[in-house]
Amino acid sequence: MCGIVACRTTDSAPEYLCEALEALEYRGYDSVGIAVQTVGGGALRLRSVHRVAELVERMADLPPRDLTGAGIGHTRWATHGGVSERNAHPHTDCTGSVHVVHNGIIENCEELRTTLVSAGHLFSSDVDSEVIAHLVEDELVRGVDLAAALGHTIELCEGSGAIVVMDSHSGRIVGASRHAPLVVAASPNGTFLASDISAFGPRVASFQVLRDGDVVELAVPVRWTGTNTDWPVAVAHTWAGTELDLHGYPDHMAKEIDEQPELAGRILDRVGADATNGALWRSLELPDFDRVAIVGCGTSLNAGGIVAAAFRRFGIMPAETVIASEAADAVLGPRTLVIAMSQSGETADILHALDGENFAHCQVLAITNNPHSSLARRANAIVECSAGHEIGVAATKTFVAQVLTGVAVAISALHELGRVNRSNTQSILDDLRRMPDLLAQSLTVAKDIVPPLAAELADSLGVIFLGRGAGVVYAAEGALKLKELTYRWAQHYPAGELKHGPLALVEEGTPVVIVDSGGARIAGNIAEVAARGARLITIGGAGSTIPALGRSLLAPVDNGFQPCGPLECVIPMQVLARELALVLGRDVDKPRNLAKSVTVE
Ligand code: F6R
Repeated sequence: MCGIVACRTTDSAPEYLCEALEALEYRGYDSVGIAVQTVGGGALRLRSVHRVAELVERMADLPPRDLTGAGIGHTRWATHGGVSERNAHPHTDCTGSVHVVHNGIIENCEELRTTLVSAGHLFSSDVDSEVIAHLVEDELVRGVDLAAALGHTIELCEGSGAIVVMDSHSGRIVGASRHAPLVVAASPNGTFLASDISAFGPRVASFQVLRDGDVVELAVPVRWTGTNTDWPVAVAHTWAGTELDLHGYPDHMAKEIDEQPELAGRILDRVGADATNGALWRSLELPDFDRVAIVGCGTSLNAGGIVAAAFRRFGIMPAETVIASEAADAVLGPRTLVIAMSQSGETADILHALDGENFAHCQVLAITNNPHSSLARRANAIVECSAGHEIGVAATKTFVAQVLTGVAVAISALHELGRVNRSNTQSILDDLRRMPDLLAQSLTVAKDIVPPLAAELADSLGVIFLGRGAGVVYAAEGALKLKELTYRWAQHYPAGELKHGPLALVEEGTPVVIVDSGGARIAGNIAEVAARGARLITIGGAGSTIPALGRSLLAPVDNGFQPCGPLECVIPMQVLARELALVLGRDVDKPRNLAKSVTVE
């Protein structure tokens, strides 16, 4: 989703901005732009509907210009107005000296635009963000200082968002945000603002997160104004360094799929033992609870489905998943623990859900891959899922990390609450500890068997995914991956539901992927689709099309239920989605229309 960068540096501003924008590419975007102050007090503005790399090439072709180290940049994920150069950020005011980049949605944009137009302002784009430039312009005309002008402007705009403004006359750059991520940092070579810390690279040792009401100016030292009376604390920034390196893989998705078995091992080493002795739950210092609501979106919601099942199955505890964008209607009883599941920790739907009155009485535990995120700050406690930076827009390794971390939290809490049979916890842990091997085995099988299968599906219009029990959520995740990556329709169903309607979709050759976690009932469902000529792809034990679940089916813990369900079945489905996408010529790391950090509702 939209990414903001800004700098006042002694180095080259365009170079920094483009490098920082490249680091934010993983968020997903459809156009990009920068504005850099010129020595004469004007600005060089360059925008493109292609990738950052194209902007870099165009910069190189320009005649040399005298540029200062002050500049702002943006990757746009379209909401208001189509994808075009004129709608790409930065946007300017009527004078051309106020330059604005914005991440978020201005809910009262039409009203503001109408007032500004009737006051004589000329607009040159269709996007809501442009009103900010004209509102700031009005403030400056009235003699208001730039930082205060931004403070007033953000008050006038309804909704959430982060804004950075550059005045190209002075080269001053100010930023503010409301319910949206914006971070500031300093180095010996300058001061920087960004939507997330990956934009800073190795330059800075610490950063500060803007709160609602803060207005910050890139100066030395960074200047804070606004309505808060203190400054936010500085957080240490440890740069992982090689995150963008493909290490010989063709794309990040391939690399991230491969990382899963080892990642599972690391997570279980970290939280496994603490899960079965209750220490993990105790360390969170949260109160006891009687029910669980897991809030999330997309893949994170699917991971939440597995965690909710672990609460229900092992603790006989009511546990449900809540779609964050629909959470306003959720009825959360007393003593409900809310688990907010989010890889990015910046998903606006989740943050908004937690603001709802129906959530006010609940303690919130965040399970996130980003301990510096808005969600981490909002929650009463957090558990990191520690998947490492995930660059591929479609979630893969973070899903596995969320499932394992979430299930460990569930077992730990149930143990502490005395709701799980204590003799059972050891066998649960033993089962969890088999996961890295099961994932590795599944990966080997998937890489061998899936690519030719994917090639056979190139002409299919879509794919049906089926499962029963814990397999249903995995079928949902398989269908989501296929849609995201291939742009083909994919629909999942509980296999037993098929005969109640969806069976009408099945005809000769319809591809049907079935998570076959065993049992007579799923065998019956397989027979039903086979009888109608479906192109069957079963993911199960020996004899399946993709025999990836063999060992997992041998020793189920609790009456056929493994703590994570058949987690290893997700790998063949990830590989299938990626392989089919490649056959169809898609960009697997940056699927169209999608964003890694979804900061609008
Ligand atoms: C799917 C995917 C999305 C995210 C969803 C929630 O591959 O990436 O469905 O899972 O947008 O994002 P987070 O986990 O950041 O809250």
